[in-house]
Amino acid sequence: MNIRQLLSDKFQAAMLAAGIPEECGPIVAPAKKAGFGDYQANGAMGAAKRLGTNPRELSSKILEQLDKGDMIEKVEIAGPGFLNIHLSEQWLSQQLLAAQGDKRLNIASVEEPKTVVIDYSHPNLAKEMHVGHLRTTIIGDALARLLEFQGHKVVRQNHMGDWGTQFGMLLAHLSDKLADNAAEVALADLEVFYREAKVRFDEEEGFADRAREYVVKLQGGDEQCLKLWKQFIDISISHCEEIYSKLNVTLKQEDVYAESQYNDDLPVLVKELLDNDIAVEDQGAIVVFLEEMADKEGNPSPMIIQKKGGGYLYATTDLAAIRYRANQLNADRILYVVDARQSLHLQQAFVASRKAGFLPESVSLEHCAFGTMMGDDGKPFKTRTGGTVKLAALLEEAVERAEKLVAEKNPELDAQTCAEIARKVGIGAVKYADLSKTRTNDYIFSWESMLSFEGNTAPYLQYAYTRVRSIFRKAGIEASELKGDINLESPQERALAVKLNQFGEVLDQVAKDTFPHVLCTYLYELASAYMSFYEACPVLKEGVSEEQKHSRLQLCNLVASTIATGLGLLGIEVMEQM
Ligand code: ARG
Repeated sequence: MNIRQLLSDKFQAAMLAAGIPEECGPIVAPAKKAGFGDYQANGAMGAAKRLGTNPRELSSKILEQLDKGDMIEKVEIAGPGFLNIHLSEQWLSQQLLAAQGDKRLNIASVEEPKTVVIDYSHPNLAKEMHVGHLRTTIIGDALARLLEFQGHKVVRQNHMGDWGTQFGMLLAHLSDKLADNAAEVALADLEVFYREAKVRFDEEEGFADRAREYVVKLQGGDEQCLKLWKQFIDISISHCEEIYSKLNVTLKQEDVYAESQYNDDLPVLVKELLDNDIAVEDQGAIVVFLEEMADKEGNPSPMIIQKKGGGYLYATTDLAAIRYRANQLNADRILYVVDARQSLHLQQAFVASRKAGFLPESVSLEHCAFGTMMGDDGKPFKTRTGGTVKLAALLEEAVERAEKLVAEKNPELDAQTCAEIARKVGIGAVKYADLSKTRTNDYIFSWESMLSFEGNTAPYLQYAYTRVRSIFRKAGIEASELKGDINLESPQERALAVKLNQFGEVLDQVAKDTFPHVLCTYLYELASAYMSFYEACPVLKEGVSEEQKHSRLQLCNLVASTIATGLGLLGIEVMEQM
């Protein structure tokens, strides 16, 4: 259920009936301050300006036409013509009763499911996964889970970088190790392996030439060489998979559709672009000039798709990928969860593929850009010695730190339970810290704040969840045994009910705008509304009537389910105790 949408429809209809043109939207939003209703409709002001009439008068005309149904209790005209909407208490509680005991919390699947391709994680296999891949992996996975929950068909595309000149050096090194029967050992630590190969490339006589030969052989389809490459790629991918599983990310082997898979299409694509005069030869290279992206002087933006020596580029592969996704995967929407620094590259790929007619007009290409993860020195996050932080090491540290905290907080836990909780808290903290920030901004990575039990953090929400669960243990009652109405007499109960009922519209908004922090903010506000409710409204205290207890326990239970579902969509687990 999407309250905002329901209200927008009602107010839009009333405005039309009051003779206001359709372009003047109702502009419905949740009220910002307590005491001004639950929602506001602010469209009357703009409409009055356009029609040259008095906004308060126009507001009362809208109200005359409004069908309040059983949803709206009353509407007040405030200030210059704001409409403050008070939802009906009974309606709110009916909605909650419908959500109670429903696995989907009374959230219907979308009426028109779309096929959404999400390009995320996509590490370069010539290097071990490092902290630079964290944001895309976490954000992409949250979007995938959320869109899937909504009923869309999500196709995950792990566009791994498994091709390119760096592989020459790695294969040359690998073939030597194989000759020494030491390949297995060498590949166990890929980071060391890459470093060794690089040192040899830079320092060892003749090695660089051999590396280049390998590139040529690889691109020429030499069988021996391809076998070696495949061996390397497989091991590299299995290292990534270990990380995905630690990180509780849904990416699987079958989601890998790597750069090399477009190889055969690249010459076809370049020829087609040349034949159709989309691309031209320029100083030996093949280039698409994009007037659509011309600079201030009017020079078109050049996108090279084939180098002078015949080599293809990252951009060429991306054009092939767009064509594949639109036509083979039948995407309605393609989301690129890619670093903001690649924005020019993606813009070029989007514009060029439209120009080339690679995809139906209706397919939406969206760059879900994200900023950089910074250290507390305000520079891109690095190890103390200035190296790149390996993802595996970072996740290990998160769990270790969480383990200390959990053991401190609850010394009675046995070691195994403690370790399991620590895993969920540590990984959850890292993910939530990232997801809760507006993704387009840079953010400072801080262990202290992400692992804090106060504020907008994963541990805070996980803790709120465990508190509700412990109430149920204390009450000795199961959620399924609750019965009766949900009473919303106190302002805290009412405020909590409104929040709970907003879950659906928050999911719709994240699905549309692809900003997961909106869901985090919502969950945090929900947990805070719960804390206020819990302070003001006794649940199990003596003197609380059976009816009251059941009503309040139902609210508690809905809070727990909403937090668990919401965190679940972010890829974060909850636990019964901590
Ligand atoms: N592998 C690339 C990198 O690490 C990111 C790929 C992003 N996706 C894409 N279709 N270009 O920089």
